[in-house]
Amino acid sequence: MEFINLAQKRYSVRSYSDQPVDDAKLMEVLNAARFAPTACNYQPFFLIVIRDLAIRRQCATVYNRPWFLNAPVMIVACCDHSQSWHRSDGKDYGEIDVAIVMDHITLAAADVGLGTCWIGNFDVFEARKVLKIPAEISVVALTPLGYPSGQPLVTSKSRKPLEQLVFWDHYGNINK
Ligand SMILES: Cc1cc2nc3c(=O)[nH]c(=O)nc-3n(C[C@H](O)[C@H](O)[C@H](O)COP(=O)(O)O)c2cc1C
Repeated sequence: MEFINLAQKRYSVRSYSDQPVDDAKLMEVLNAARFAPTACNYQPFFLIVIRDLAIRRQCATVYNRPWFLNAPVMIVACCDHSQSWHRSDGKDYGEIDVAIVMDHITLAAADVGLGTCWIGNFDVFEARKVLKIPAEISVVALTPLGYPSGQPLVTSKSRKPLEQLVFWDHYGNINK
């Protein structure tokens, strides 16, 4: 699929069927995550893939929306800051790396007909407790992974026009 079509096809899926995700598709999505670029190629991330129904149900306290639990797979993206690149001014690039990984996951999933929804508004304390994540590891984002049921909201693809997003040659110049 052409990249621009894939980018437009992906949307935040908030309604999933309980159809199982074939292992080959899951592995394709995870492999796409592996190829994400990371600062200095340090790859300071790891993914927790949850398929176990009992653990997914426990995740209701992590993000309490009914659709969140319907998907047969959940992916939790974490950062190990002891492995991430720190710029000379101290800025830690770890969570930026994980964001790129998440983007690969969401796009790769859309490419194989699967839905995702990036979840940032989760309860981090519950996530640590349920998934046994130690304090030194940050939990950056979660997503369900499964087949969409229903259609996206029309409004979900509204985007600012390029004119509001791009300056030319220097900050503030909108004249191409
Ligand atoms: C960093 C980040 C955090 C997000 N957190 C949530 C969230 O907690 N819950 C949710 O339903 N959607 C969440 N989203 C999805 C956004 O609402 C969604 O991407 C945006 O509205 C654009 O819609 P689209 O993904 O369908 O194109 C998040 C997206 C990003 C990139």
